[in-house]
Amino acid sequence: MTKTIDFQVRRDNIAVTRTVSLTGQSEADLTDGEVLLHLDRFAFTANNITYAVAGDMMSYWNFFPAADGWGRIPVWGFGDVIASRHGSIEVGARYYGYFPMSTHLTIKPDRVTDQGFSDGCDHRKDLHAVYNQYTATTNDPIYTSASEDLQLLFRPLFTTAFLIDDFLDDNAYFGADQVIVSSASAKTAFGTARLLSARKSCQVIGLTSQANKDFVTGLGCYDKVGTYEDVETLDTGAAAAFVDIAGNGSVRARLHHHFKGNLKYSCTVGASHWNQGADTGDLPGAKPMLFFAPAQGQKRNQDWGPAVFQERFMAAWIDFTGFIADQISIDHDIGTAAIETLYQAMLAGNVAPDHAHIAGFDIES
Ligand SMILES: NC(=O)c1ccc[n+]([C@@H]2O[C@H](COP(=O)([O-])OP(=O)(O)OC[C@H]3O[C@@H](n4cnc5c(N)ncnc54)[C@H](OP(=O)(O)O)[C@@H]3O)[C@@H](O)[C@H]2O)c1
Repeated sequence: MTKTIDFQVRRDNIAVTRTVSLTGQSEADLTDGEVLLHLDRFAFTANNITYAVAGDMMSYWNFFPAADGWGRIPVWGFGDVIASRHGSIEVGARYYGYFPMSTHLTIKPDRVTDQGFSDGCDHRKDLHAVYNQYTATTNDPIYTSASEDLQLLFRPLFTTAFLIDDFLDDNAYFGADQVIVSSASAKTAFGTARLLSARKSCQVIGLTSQANKDFVTGLGCYDKVGTYEDVETLDTGAAAAFVDIAGNGSVRARLHHHFKGNLKYSCTVGASHWNQGADTGDLPGAKPMLFFAPAQGQKRNQDWGPAVFQERFMAAWIDFTGFIADQISIDHDIGTAAIETLYQAMLAGNVAPDHAHIAGFDIES
């Protein structure tokens, strides 16, 4: 029996963390139909901060409940089955999916196929299906063992980028001639910009912080790059759509006031600016909407069918992962102290955009 480690944050103040260490679980703790996974590696980006910020509003706390006002932030990771009381799931199998920041996770596989399964635990039944899915590495067209880090980092983020680009195109850009993307240095942002630019249907403008301007410009994904100081100099003569990637309320408000009625569409994708008042009251221009990627994914799976969806996504993925390998370096933050440091830096927005982070607990399964 091994030790389990659980990284938790206060739901009412996500800067406060604790690490809970318990005597581990084994097959003897499982009931019929359950399996025990050991989380090997997971990606940590600003997106995971959104999961904490929107934990109550979007039910992210409900995936992996914790007691007494503590929360377990979801992460995308690879886990290995280390004990199984399910007839179709073998010890040693490796799955990609949604995990808490913990060494272990007990789940109850349901709808098992060669491709994977969904977690059928009662507390996850009402949560969005996309987050309940565990994909077997053995039958996953995206999977290669050499590219695991890229998959952890970019699969969720680039899927969102793919869906934002598709959503805008699906809606004829809401009549806009330019799409303005804030937090332009974020992985989700420049993935979106690369796809939008390739269509050549509208100008793609990136807005970023002064410190990250050179990185964003060097990516070559945007037609123009400006800093947040430049908002009031943007060309209001062309109708605009705004994609607020990380939920920067003050930039959003300034942009709405600048464009007024010529802002044809405005959406917020994430909420990583957790200590920035997001409520900016009534704003001129299009009413800001929440962009929820799984909804557009569901629509396109119905419109196109899963095979065509997969084929289109794969083509985009191959292009993007070829591009990104030269743009960022990947750091490995291993152990509870390194994870705490990474978490606090991400919370403060102090992570260089050309460094991506893969984390893991340094204990044996
Ligand atoms: N709705 C969805 O389904 C969905 C899916 C994927 C991602 N997202 C959202 O997209 C956003 C970006 O996620 P990501 O994982 O792509 O991020 P990332 O690569 O880790 O991006 C980090 C960048 O975001 C900006 N940023 C984020 N938090 C900040 C803070 N607290 N203070 C200052 N700058 C901050 C900075 O960009 P600048 O310097 O350029 O401003 C920073 O360089 C997140 O809010 C995430 O939740 C949403």
